[in-house]
Amino acid sequence: MTSSGLAFIPVARPLIGDEEKRAVLEVLDSGQLAQGPRTEAFEQAFATYIGTTHAIAVNSGTAALIVALQAHGIGPGDEVITTPFSFIATATSILAVGATPVFVDIDPFDFNIDPALIEGAVTDETKAIMPVHLYGGPARIEELAEIADDFELALIEDAAQAHGAESAGRRLGSFGTGCFSFYPTKNMTTGEGGIITTNDDAVAEQCRLIRHHGQSRRYYHDVYGLNYRMTDIAAAIGHEQLKKLESWNERRIANATALSNWITSVETPRVREGDRHVFHQYTIRVSAERDAFQARLRELGVGSAIHYPIPIHQQPVICELGLADEVSLPVAEAAAETVLSIPVHPALSEDDLVRVAEAVNAAARA
Ligand SMILES: Cc1ncc(COP(=O)(O)O)c(C=O)c1O
Repeated sequence: MTSSGLAFIPVARPLIGDEEKRAVLEVLDSGQLAQGPRTEAFEQAFATYIGTTHAIAVNSGTAALIVALQAHGIGPGDEVITTPFSFIATATSILAVGATPVFVDIDPFDFNIDPALIEGAVTDETKAIMPVHLYGGPARIEELAEIADDFELALIEDAAQAHGAESAGRRLGSFGTGCFSFYPTKNMTTGEGGIITTNDDAVAEQCRLIRHHGQSRRYYHDVYGLNYRMTDIAAAIGHEQLKKLESWNERRIANATALSNWITSVETPRVREGDRHVFHQYTIRVSAERDAFQARLRELGVGSAIHYPIPIHQQPVICELGLADEVSLPVAEAAAETVLSIPVHPALSEDDLVRVAEAVNAAARA
């Protein structure tokens, strides 16, 4: 509650219905708790949704990135070109397989990797490009796919925030190897979980091996793998959530449209013609004192979050490894100082949306 008696509007809220609860109870009653038939059914449904021939479920979005990188044969000595403006797992997954992240700056239009800067970062060691579809908005994926083709690089899409987003009529995660997260704040959840999508039979086969100790048959281990398996409990939740995803995405898009119509005081998100942004986050740019702006929103009962306050190349973990010495990425650095995500999730009522927009306009005037 706020001092005016109004309920606080959180920046994210997972939606769990009776369908998910029933599905979990069925799994518990079945006695098959670890990866089993529910995981397979969820994988098939997710692959159909994205438009790929394969989907391989794993136990986090981070695991999806690690398994995908390894499945593409990326390891020590290899470089992966990626964005500095993302959640840390984008870069640490590259480190986890022993490879080196190489950061290039972002496009101020959408906060995603700038394709024009990639060619200049390609070396003999480059093996992949890993764009992120930040906030649920498509990176310039057709251009990136072309560059990957030209330089014979793998294209691994960090689509952790972009379930159902599209470019040129195709779902993201189907242009390259897609990696999704099902963390509770995402557009759909399994509690913890992730999934890899691909049309490449060999990559899919490698992913399945790697997630299960590299085991081809019981106790025969062909490649290096670990336990990245999803439980059937998580898959049962995910399968029910997937059925609701499109209606939730439509709500997010409608909420974003309303916010953009009503917010007049600050820069609102931009979407390219022909793209479908699914608004995992609705992120404004606050040029004045952001801390004070955020505090003012809180007083007015509106939650907000900074995604992300420090660009990856300036994070201590990366600096200590000497991976970003003398790297200057001014667009990402400026974005980190000005972005602020405000509520856009499907649980918002019309009144909530009006309150969010009015709070932003009021905070900007203060
Ligand atoms: C862009 C991005 N990449 C990777 C991840 C990692 O996913 P998870 O938290 O499921 O491991 C996330 C999730 O927060 C993310 O937002």
